[in-house]
Amino acid sequence: MDFSRCPPSRPRWKPSRALGGDPAALAGQAVSPALGEGVSSEAMTTALVTGASSGIGAELARVLPRHGHGLVLVARDRDRLHRLADELAQQHGSDVVVLPHDLSHPDAPEAIVRELGERSLVADILVNNAGMIVYGRFWETDWEDERRMLWVNLMALTRLTKLILPGMKARGRGRILNVGSVGSFVPSPRNAVYSATKAYLLSLSEAIAEELQGSGVTVTAVCPGAVRSELQQRAGMTHVRLLRSGVLDASRVAEYAYRAMMAGKRLAIPDLRTRIQVSLVRFLPRAWAVRMAGRMLE
Ligand SMILES: NC(=O)c1ccc[n+]([C@@H]2O[C@H](COP(=O)([O-])OP(=O)(O)OC[C@H]3O[C@@H](n4cnc5c(N)ncnc54)[C@H](OP(=O)(O)O)[C@@H]3O)[C@@H](O)[C@H]2O)c1
Repeated sequence: MDFSRCPPSRPRWKPSRALGGDPAALAGQAVSPALGEGVSSEAMTTALVTGASSGIGAELARVLPRHGHGLVLVARDRDRLHRLADELAQQHGSDVVVLPHDLSHPDAPEAIVRELGERSLVADILVNNAGMIVYGRFWETDWEDERRMLWVNLMALTRLTKLILPGMKARGRGRILNVGSVGSFVPSPRNAVYSATKAYLLSLSEAIAEELQGSGVTVTAVCPGAVRSELQQRAGMTHVRLLRSGVLDASRVAEYAYRAMMAGKRLAIPDLRTRIQVSLVRFLPRAWAVRMAGRMLE
């Protein structure tokens, strides 16, 4: 997929007007703040990026201000988020809001949306990127780790979308980017729950995208192969075969994902190898595909 001929990357929509009322409702309705010098009012949109402290999320946070978007950064690591916010403020004069939250806490999405409302911020772009992996055979992995993963990868994404989408829909504009993976297409032994969360993500994204047809709001699922980040290190799976056969650069994935999102693509797979794998999965007997995925994760 080549997005070099996508629509202009600087968004054409205008900021919405501020409304009074409940902070949670305001999060979907109020006006975005000024983003710094040299940014036209046409480009005043705010992107909420989860998992912005490292990897793909941090790179998306670097891409977005280059295209004129203000930023709200969410992750647990407050210091890293502030360092990134300072970097972006120096480079682009961007107005970056840092909201440290643990998305494995059930009340985090409501708290984030409430804090957006208190700052009179509108999320015109929602990037559901935060994610984690629990590696190992299903009967050996820790339930508490898996419970947290289900919240971060699945529940928080669903709840944040549920809270933010109605405002986008009412304004008739918005972009949602959900970061899936190759596991969205094929069950992955030793990543069983992780790949199930990513299959859910793709199913949810495509269904909502169809519901939103013609509304001015789009949903994009970006599903990369292996990417250089902290994900596998955190999960203790840096030895797996998958990572020996080439990994993608997080900054390239982020740029690609941004363009796909702005073009309103429903599905975007950044690398050729994953595109071929995903096509093969459709033709191979299902059990073979799952076994091959398992081999890559040994
Ligand atoms: N790397 C790959 O090979 C690959 C391939 C396909 C898809 N993906 C997907 O890409 C997304 C980003 O992953 P990455 O590769 O960039 O990994 P990463 O470097 O580990 O980044 C993960 C991000 O999620 C945040 N996060 C984790 N747990 C969180 C929690 N409980 N609450 C809030 N934030 C949390 C982390 O921030 P804190 O630790 O500061 O909270 C970090 O910013 C994930 O959804 C992942 O599944 C990755």
